[in-house]
Amino acid sequence: MSLTESSARIAPTITEPSADAPGEMLPLHGQRDHFDQPSPATPASRLIPMPIGKSASAPGDRLHGINSSAIIRIGAACRQMGGIDLATGIPSIPAHTDAVAGAVDALRGGQNAYAHPHGVAELRQAIVEKLRRENRIECDADSDVLVTSGAIGAFTASMMALFSPGDEILVPEPYFGWHVNLVRLAGLRPRFVRLHPPLFALTRDALTAALSPRTRGIVLCTPANPSGKVYTRDELKLLARVAFEQDLLVITDEQYEQFCYDSNRHVSPASIDGLDDRTVAIMGFSKSLSVTGWRLGYAVAPAALMKPIRSVHQLLYICPPTPLQHGVAHALRSPIDRTGELRAQLSAKRDRLCTALTDAGFAVLPPQGGFFVLATVPAVLARSMTARTGDLAMAVLEETGVAAVAGPDFYSNTVGDRILRFCFAKSDADIEEACRRLRTLSTRQ
Ligand SMILES: Cc1ncc(COP(=O)(O)O)c(C=O)c1O
Repeated sequence: MSLTESSARIAPTITEPSADAPGEMLPLHGQRDHFDQPSPATPASRLIPMPIGKSASAPGDRLHGINSSAIIRIGAACRQMGGIDLATGIPSIPAHTDAVAGAVDALRGGQNAYAHPHGVAELRQAIVEKLRRENRIECDADSDVLVTSGAIGAFTASMMALFSPGDEILVPEPYFGWHVNLVRLAGLRPRFVRLHPPLFALTRDALTAALSPRTRGIVLCTPANPSGKVYTRDELKLLARVAFEQDLLVITDEQYEQFCYDSNRHVSPASIDGLDDRTVAIMGFSKSLSVTGWRLGYAVAPAALMKPIRSVHQLLYICPPTPLQHGVAHALRSPIDRTGELRAQLSAKRDRLCTALTDAGFAVLPPQGGFFVLATVPAVLARSMTARTGDLAMAVLEETGVAAVAGPDFYSNTVGDRILRFCFAKSDADIEEACRRLRTLSTRQ
């Protein structure tokens, strides 16, 4: 293949990953990238000039309907102005020390080759024990567990392995944009289940309204990003009945399982009778161990569902980084359990931020779990702030130096237009200063 051919075939732009939500690095249609320039090793004079065909400038059909999140712009603008980043979900908490120590030992000990494609055996066994202890899920390390390239790797592989192009997947709204983008990338169609504040209750009516004869599955994020909703046992039992009647598979995202506040308790959907045999439970280490950059998570499912997921995951990723798997296995067996302490700290940060947003005049929905709070900006303030740019998150950033994610990232309709999502898993100093700055907005009303 000639150089010009190879550069013309290079996949569409993957934007420079921002240091935050992974899902928000997807290309914008028509965006051009560094492949437009000859590489330094290839002087322009050696390239044969050729007309640039359509294939060199347009992304493939698979990317249609995929929304590049505004978080890229907000994150970049925040960094540029030295603002306080409450937009991204990266916890300002150091990585679990035993995870780091275990990974360093593994690196020094020469664990540098590909791991078993299903995951390092010791880690899979530690996951089985954790699932029994904390999630009431019984499973087998050999047939039911897969260590994945982040929870996102598990989700991607599940979508591709278990569904066929054109299948419809229910996604409760507000949603985590990555879920919807990956549903679409797999050639599937999202159908939105409209959940309403303040409880975001999962009801039979809401589910039925979204169902069609082509619906094959549902994505359930609990605790949910961005709403903080923690689904109750009763809601999950209802889901089990509907899933049975409609023969749906349930794909969960339990990334924030350790972070439920007040009296809310995480219930793993796969622990509910009737969901156990039709659920792929996806969990992560990114947030619980504060290792978002390690790209490690896992999936657990009955063997018949797990087998195709493992095949796709192996094709896409081969295996997640071996030494880091050893590090996480070490942390899972560690006597140091920081979760109670972290939960208490996060709950206090959540309360401080909610109070400040309320003082600023926003309508706040205190989250039951997760890292985020949704707040609605009063109509008059939103109108005056967006008069110039039309972009509420950018206007708040410009005025206060605090970055949040705009609601339209989480909605398929206009409901989110005056909503902002703030992350409270940040340092006390950042939360305090952000609260002070946000309160200044009260004088604008
Ligand atoms: C709900 C949810 N799922 C998954 C992820 C990413 O998980 P991982 O880093 O394990 O791929 C995030 C990150 O923000 C998230 O909010």
